[in-house]
Amino acid sequence: MRAYRPRSGRLVQQEEPMPEPRPGEVLVRVRAVSLNYRDLLILNGDHFAPGSGALIPVSDAAGEVAAVGEGVTRFGAGDRVINTFHPDWIAGRMPDTAVGYGNGRDGWLAEYRAVPEHALVALPDSLSFEQGATLPCAAVTAWTSLDGVRPGDVVLTLGTGGVSLFAVQLAKARGARVVSTTSSADKAAKLAGLGADTVIDYAAVPDWGQAVLDTTGGRGADRIVEVGGPGTFAQSVVAAGTHHAEIALVGFVGRSGPAVDFMDLFRSGATLRKIWVGSREDTEDLLRWLDVWPIEPVIDGVHSFEDAEAAFRRFESRENFGKVVIAVG
Ligand SMILES: NC(=O)c1ccc[n+]([C@@H]2O[C@H](COP(=O)([O-])OP(=O)(O)OC[C@H]3O[C@@H](n4cnc5c(N)ncnc54)[C@H](OP(=O)(O)O)[C@@H]3O)[C@@H](O)[C@H]2O)c1
Repeated sequence: MRAYRPRSGRLVQQEEPMPEPRPGEVLVRVRAVSLNYRDLLILNGDHFAPGSGALIPVSDAAGEVAAVGEGVTRFGAGDRVINTFHPDWIAGRMPDTAVGYGNGRDGWLAEYRAVPEHALVALPDSLSFEQGATLPCAAVTAWTSLDGVRPGDVVLTLGTGGVSLFAVQLAKARGARVVSTTSSADKAAKLAGLGADTVIDYAAVPDWGQAVLDTTGGRGADRIVEVGGPGTFAQSVVAAGTHHAEIALVGFVGRSGPAVDFMDLFRSGATLRKIWVGSREDTEDLLRWLDVWPIEPVIDGVHSFEDAEAAFRRFESRENFGKVVIAVG
């Protein structure tokens, strides 16, 4: 079977032995994978936990069960599945031992992978393999970031990355009012098409936190899906107003920025909640929701397995709007 491994920041395709499912494991024929910010960081050696550097990359996949090992009860041959982002986090608190695909263990950019049955969930028939592959990291992160959002709440999303687009779609489906930021008129129009009620150009309006206050009559956002980190956090605190909003601490795509004004944070009364994608239970909850409330994942394009490198470069360009997907087989 064919698999990719990184070498000096590039992807190298090679022939590898077909994995054999051990007791309790499922052999998955991978049909599609999608890319996330972390996959690019790991490949480029920029991730804070880069791993060994020789592991098969990519955390998110969809496929079908090719064979099962002894004792497997949850799946049978032919079942459609996606992986969970944290293979050993079933429910409750995240275990301290969690290690990621691509930096702690082999990931999914391969034709076949054998993984424990507890690390997979069933993919509903309503979703294609390409759509299913977009869900394990970005969609589950958006889902857990929005936990507890009520109809009428104002949800602030930042930029048009994978997490943020799912957050727009899921927040709208929950009846929230969505305020989004982005950096181009073209992406602003696409965000509006997805349902964002207000779009602010963060490049043209550097104090966009105040713009969020202005557009909400001075109240600010109730929930902020904070993916920008050092580049956006100070403005997110302004956007939180003073009414005890919740800031879901997700990411750090804005690598540097101004210091946070402590008194702004203190006055805001905001609660900070760190997000770690989610558990298998969170993933199953999301899939149940999607079965009754279909949301079409936004896909920028589907690249061929042969041209996986081009998919990474498209993703790196930040010109994509939606998930970059690779069809595997
Ligand atoms: N904690 C967790 O559980 C978790 C889970 C998933 C992801 N993450 C993290 O969350 C972040 C987003 O991940 P992703 O996969 O969605 O990323 P992505 O798809 O690579 O997002 C890229 C987008 O980020 C936006 N961006 C860049 N700088 C920005 C800024 N200063 N302000 C606002 N937007 C900015 C840009 O949007 P525009 O082109 O519209 O400007 C860009 O297109 C990453 O840091 C990732 O590591 C964390």
